[in-house]
Amino acid sequence: MPTTWITVCDTCKGEDWAARGLEETDGERLAGLVEAAAQGRAVRVRRTSCLMGCDHACNVAIQAQGKLAYTLGRFEPGPESAEGIVAYAERHAESETGQVPYRDWPQAVKGHFITRHPPLPESDA
Ligand code: FES
Repeated sequence: MPTTWITVCDTCKGEDWAARGLEETDGERLAGLVEAAAQGRAVRVRRTSCLMGCDHACNVAIQAQGKLAYTLGRFEPGPESAEGIVAYAERHAESETGQVPYRDWPQAVKGHFITRHPPLPESDA
């Protein structure tokens, strides 16, 4: 099975981020929590700067070769979000197509789906 990757935007900031007076972005906080939650589990995590969904931060992408890919957003940078994202990515990894039945979605990802991309064809022919 191809590896499922979680790509976390580390430059995301919630609307009230500036008012909270933090140095760490919300995306950096979420990325750290997702990385910690994924330790020892069968998914990989990487960071990127901007997934172009800035107005509905925090954003992540879930991808694996040959499978449906998803972007999810509107996450609060907390442990519950991080655990839900990792648990959803595990279901994505277990799925042949990347499609996870709704009944298996962790509560924390419900209402957070933004886009879905079909996999690219295996060849250009
Ligand atoms: S800063 Fe996160 S999507 Fe743009």
